[in-house]
Amino acid sequence: MKITIIGAGYVGLVQSVCLADFGFSVTCIEKDLNKLRELKFGRIPFYEPGLEDLFRKNLKSNRLNFTNEYSSNISQSDVIFICVGTPPKKNGESNLNFVDQVTKEISKKIKGYTVIVSKSTVPVGTSRRIEKILKRVSSTKTFDVVSNPEFLREGSALEDFTKPDKIIIGCRTTKAEKILKKIYKPLNRPYVVTSNETAEIIKYANNSFLATKITFVNEIADLCENIGAEIETVAKAMGLDGRIGSKFLHPGPGYGGSCFPKDVKSLIYQGNKNSTDLKIIKAVDRANELRIKYLFQRVKKITKNKFNNIQIGLLGISFKPNTDDVRQSPGIKLAKDLSKTKAKIKIYDPKGMENAKKELPRSIEFCSDEYEVAKNSNLLVIVTEWNQFKNLDLLKVKKIMKKPVILDLRNIYSKQITKNGFQYYSVGNN
Ligand code: UDX
Repeated sequence: MKITIIGAGYVGLVQSVCLADFGFSVTCIEKDLNKLRELKFGRIPFYEPGLEDLFRKNLKSNRLNFTNEYSSNISQSDVIFICVGTPPKKNGESNLNFVDQVTKEISKKIKGYTVIVSKSTVPVGTSRRIEKILKRVSSTKTFDVVSNPEFLREGSALEDFTKPDKIIIGCRTTKAEKILKKIYKPLNRPYVVTSNETAEIIKYANNSFLATKITFVNEIADLCENIGAEIETVAKAMGLDGRIGSKFLHPGPGYGGSCFPKDVKSLIYQGNKNSTDLKIIKAVDRANELRIKYLFQRVKKITKNKFNNIQIGLLGISFKPNTDDVRQSPGIKLAKDLSKTKAKIKIYDPKGMENAKKELPRSIEFCSDEYEVAKNSNLLVIVTEWNQFKNLDLLKVKKIMKKPVILDLRNIYSKQITKNGFQYYSVGNN
């Protein structure tokens, strides 16, 4: 079976490497020539634990190759995965230009029965849209379109690919279903086989529910701060309820990344377009947007609204640990807000510095480690819970800070550190 993957982003590259590792012959089509050059030299264009080694192993095996050519690759393919971006428009609508473009290319080249798999996160009805474009050129029905959304988390993409909770297959024929099951057979995980439309909405419902869970616990954390309760104990007790579960109940600065914010806004748009007012999801989106302003207020309260002649250090800029991705990151938003004050801002992130430099003003000092950030700081804000921030040498930090004050937005420490002479603030405790 010849498999072609279109798009070498997070989803496309993980899909290409893992299917090659299953033994399939995989061609990945990427239009960005710089990215293509990097890939051909065995380098992946983003940080994802374990991916580069697996990528190089399969590159050497000749099961995996990269090109920007559609022609022969499409006509010889049995299965084509569309893994291109669907970035949000200003009104929240998903931009399907890349999906349309690649579908047009496919329609010109497919020969013989081909399964076209929409792996990108696409609004309900996109598989119909793909079918229409394909039918314009090839009138005889020599294809099936399958909706097969992914649930990969950045930072744990390989584990999420190899041990998914479920594999969603939205299709109209058992022929297409059988081919997808053949591809995913090595995973031996439960399937949900349904219509294309149902598969498409599952992805948005899944992500928006997780975003809701996070936003809920953040809101309860805010209440805990004002009533003198402890959010970690509340979350632990809630998580012991089998109907709730403990995952995605960690309070913090709000959800970021390239998925939750985009998918929540797209679901709201799809609701409005289909005469359904998604009130809860709208409230989640608004609450998450406002959270950064609330955090800035907390910094203002700690510094007694004095910013001149002080220095504030931020630890962590990527939107979560184990990734270099800073898209929609609370760290970026907080750094931008703070850089508008008179305070001197210093930041450090183990992997996200290059991407942060593209987003942040030059007035911000980019440090080489967490202690350089702490040096002479009046306030240290922990924004992303990288493991290396969990075991800081607190004696050293206290000695080098101008004022030993920590705002821990991920609750990786506790009030215990006040014994080391710190003023300690966190989320959901007072
Ligand atoms: C998410 C979904 O989890 C994944 O299934 C989907 O395919 C893509 O979007 P990702 O955005 O990579 O994955 O990361 P995730 O681990 O879900 O975290 C998203 C955001 O929520 C991050 O900003 C993270 O810091 C935040 N978060 C997560 C919390 O604030 N609290 C939590 O308990 C969990």
